[in-house]
Amino acid sequence: MLNTSWRLHSRPSGLVERDHFDVRTEPVPEPAPGHVVVRNIYLMVPASMRIWMDAEDTYLPAQPLGEVMRGITLGVVEHSESERLPVGTHVTGMGGWQEYSVGPERAWTALDPHPDIGLTAYLGVLDLQGLTAYYGLTDVGRPAAGETLVVTAAAGSVGSLVCQIGKKLGLRVIGIAGGPAKCAWLRDSCGVDDAIDYKGEDVAARLDELCPDGIDIAFENVGGPIMDLIIDRINTHARIALCGMVSTYNGNEQTAGRSLMNLVNKRGRIQGFIVRDYMSRRAEFREIVTPWLLDGSLIYREEFSTGLHSTPAAMNRLARGQNTGLQFVRVTSPVD
Ligand SMILES: NC(=O)c1ccc[n+]([C@@H]2O[C@H](COP(=O)([O-])OP(=O)(O)OC[C@H]3O[C@@H](n4cnc5c(N)ncnc54)[C@H](OP(=O)(O)O)[C@@H]3O)[C@@H](O)[C@H]2O)c1
Repeated sequence: MLNTSWRLHSRPSGLVERDHFDVRTEPVPEPAPGHVVVRNIYLMVPASMRIWMDAEDTYLPAQPLGEVMRGITLGVVEHSESERLPVGTHVTGMGGWQEYSVGPERAWTALDPHPDIGLTAYLGVLDLQGLTAYYGLTDVGRPAAGETLVVTAAAGSVGSLVCQIGKKLGLRVIGIAGGPAKCAWLRDSCGVDDAIDYKGEDVAARLDELCPDGIDIAFENVGGPIMDLIIDRINTHARIALCGMVSTYNGNEQTAGRSLMNLVNKRGRIQGFIVRDYMSRRAEFREIVTPWLLDGSLIYREEFSTGLHSTPAAMNRLARGQNTGLQFVRVTSPVD
């Protein structure tokens, strides 16, 4: 059995290209006792994957050059030397950009998927993206019904969940996204009170119009000048949940900071957070969110491409705002 893997060969300074990787095909090693061979079916392509490629450590150590590129996968156990994970078990873990991953059973989480929910939900909406949205909003944002929430990258996979959860919690929700189609989807399908197209509208004027009483909570995914426009308009004791700054991920110099004095003026709080800190609450979170998926009151979008060679292009779609949902690469064929 052969494994094709993609190893980071050089670090991108802007968009991600095929030339940044070595592609190797080698035999899959035999698993040691307590280890399994997992065939990776789906590789998730979140925006954060781009910063893992940089030379600086983030919340994870910098991806070492020459090693299989880190990536979150969903797969199936094909060869097992583990009692806990028999052949046929669906698992998630850090399988990386490769067809087969061999490692200890502790590296994998076994899935017990609901029959009416797609498998990929257990990587996205019921896992990293959902946990980020839910605990970033509730634990960091500390919302109270009736408050005004502004969400950036609002039509993205995290942002669109934040918008909908915000509505469930009784907030007035304003989303900021790129283009009229994304804004229409936010209004018509995600139920936001209104949306601002930052590519086609005057964001400052629209924030003044849509948030006449100021902003109580910001869920910040983008950074840059729009973050300053939001901080300019916060209310006393506002909370800014700093989830990410995607506008800086591809080498763009999009800093925010001009407005920070207003945090002083308004006794505002800005707090970064990392979803890994909420993993211990996954079961509690799934109990809350699974019924929302089943009754259709929380929607999410997914996009698929096929083959590991499609991963760099999928990453660049995020940087260009071309994705309309969480992207997955089909690494190998799904099983029934
Ligand atoms: N803290 C954590 O633990 C954690 C966990 C997961 C994700 N995150 C963060 O959550 C954010 C969203 O991630 P995601 O995976 O759900 O991606 P996503 O929102 O589905 O996709 C990224 C979106 O960002 C927008 N964007 C890209 N470049 C931009 C720019 N220069 N200016 C303004 N908007 C830009 C684009 O939407 P438009 O078309 O609207 O521009 C693009 O579709 C990222 O900041 C990510 O790092 C954080």
